[in-house]
Amino acid sequence: MTIMLKVDDLSVHYGVIQAVKNVSFEVHEGEVVSLIGANGAGKTSILRTISGLVRPSAGKIEFLGQEIQKAPARKIVASGLSQVPEGRHVFSGLTVMENLEMGAFLHKDRDENQKNLKKVFDRFPRLEERKNQDAATLSGGEQQMLAMGRALMSKPKLLLLDEPSMGLAPIFIQEIFDIVQDIQKQGTTVLLIEQNANKALSIADRGYVLETGKIVLSGTGKELLESDEVRKAYLGG
Ligand SMILES: Nc1ncnc2c1ncn2[C@@H]1O[C@H](COP(=O)(O)OP(=O)(O)OP(=O)(O)O)[C@@H](O)[C@H]1O
Ligand SMILES: [Mg+2]
Repeated sequence: MTIMLKVDDLSVHYGVIQAVKNVSFEVHEGEVVSLIGANGAGKTSILRTISGLVRPSAGKIEFLGQEIQKAPARKIVASGLSQVPEGRHVFSGLTVMENLEMGAFLHKDRDENQKNLKKVFDRFPRLEERKNQDAATLSGGEQQMLAMGRALMSKPKLLLLDEPSMGLAPIFIQEIFDIVQDIQKQGTTVLLIEQNANKALSIADRGYVLETGKIVLSGTGKELLESDEVRKAYLGG
């Protein structure tokens, strides 16, 4: 077991508000790890801190053995960590293809980029069909696929997903979780942030439950799905 990401005693403040309180967790190479929690629990804050967009007030983050909590975001991406932000944020006014090309901006090797693009299109045929379309014209589920495809264009070792199922129709939700499993099978490690505890824990090797900035439970996906606390709080009893 190789530790890929190690978050150690992490705290995040926004002024006087402490959004993340001494959080510690790990992601091992090859795993899908789900971090679940209600609105405002601090999930996005943790993710943005890992990707270097928010600075922690205390604590340490190691990615592949290197401390990254002070590193600039672009260096963190270049080291093999890529995130799909909450709400997807595809670039409207740009085509699907141009959005994907933005994801490869760090890679200058054109052949390599072409190969990655083919892989992304194999995984998301719907994106290939719509490659010349303005990203803004895609449905919500397709925009999520585009955001995931864009993140995969940088060939990350670790993919961070912030609520990929949010606001999607059930049929798309299933598809997104299937794709996450597929991404894992292809060798990318995934940290999945979700409010959809049922689905997120079903596909997770391990999971953590976050409540008002603190980790209150951890275990395998199965253990958490079966635990009384999780059932009561997230799965309706
Ligand atoms: N830029 C900010 N400035 C001030 N407070 C913030 C900021 N971002 C987040 N917060 C606060 O930090 C807490 C955690 O927010 P965060 O967005 O991390 O939660 P979350 O678990 O991602 O919630 P959601 O499920 O709604 O996305 C909340 O109380 C929120 O109001
Ligand atoms: Mg959030």
